[in-house]
Amino acid sequence: MLKNSEFFKKLMYKLGDYVIRQCDKNDIKEVIDINWNTLPEHYTEYFFIDILNQYPETFLVSEHAVDGNITGYIMCRIEYGVSNFKKLRFARKGHIISVAVSEKYRGKNIGKTLVTEALKSMRKKKCSEVYLEVRRTNLEAIGLYNKLDFTHNMILEKYYQDGESASLMIKQLSE
Ligand SMILES: CC(C)(COP(=O)(O)OP(=O)(O)OC[C@H]1O[C@@H](n2cnc3c(N)ncnc32)[C@H](O)[C@@H]1OP(=O)(O)O)[C@@H](O)C(=O)NCCC(=O)NCCS
Repeated sequence: MLKNSEFFKKLMYKLGDYVIRQCDKNDIKEVIDINWNTLPEHYTEYFFIDILNQYPETFLVSEHAVDGNITGYIMCRIEYGVSNFKKLRFARKGHIISVAVSEKYRGKNIGKTLVTEALKSMRKKKCSEVYLEVRRTNLEAIGLYNKLDFTHNMILEKYYQDGESASLMIKQLSE
């Protein structure tokens, strides 16, 4: 059974046995679990809640429609800064901070749908472009972003705490 009473208000997309919807405060513990189990980059509970409070439309989760388990999430921020596309221009930009799908649920298009739905919300929030950082060795994630027409923009040397470099990947959302 779906456990979230606000569920129908926040439903965005149905993908087989999974639904994509806005994250709720009650989901944060499961989101943090997924983050700890899938990525080396972790954040405090306060950070997750703060991002949820500030940018609820682009903080999405995938929920298993039968058992109600959270299977993946995407967390984004809306920023205003120098455009990656238009020289010497400022732009409203979506920033994908973190996206992950629990290992046993991968390969079911959940990651692709989370990113696609977050991009739709960014467009609604008037973002003209989106960017993210990804480890250069993270071929699964780079494969996902390439599939969604993100392109490599530049290398961010030693971006991560362990010294690994990141690829800055970008995508235009509107002209
Ligand atoms: C990256 C991640 C979110 C993908 O989630 P997913 O639900 O398995 O991905 P999807 O099923 O939606 O796949 C979408 C596309 O991603 C690419 N992809 C997914 N898994 C891949 C793999 N193992 N190898 C290469 N490409 C892969 C493919 O292009 C795929 O499209 P296709 O199936 O039509 O070929 C997942 O692997 C994950 O959570 N990884 C750990 C966390 C992480 O690295 N997050 C990104 C940080 S920047």
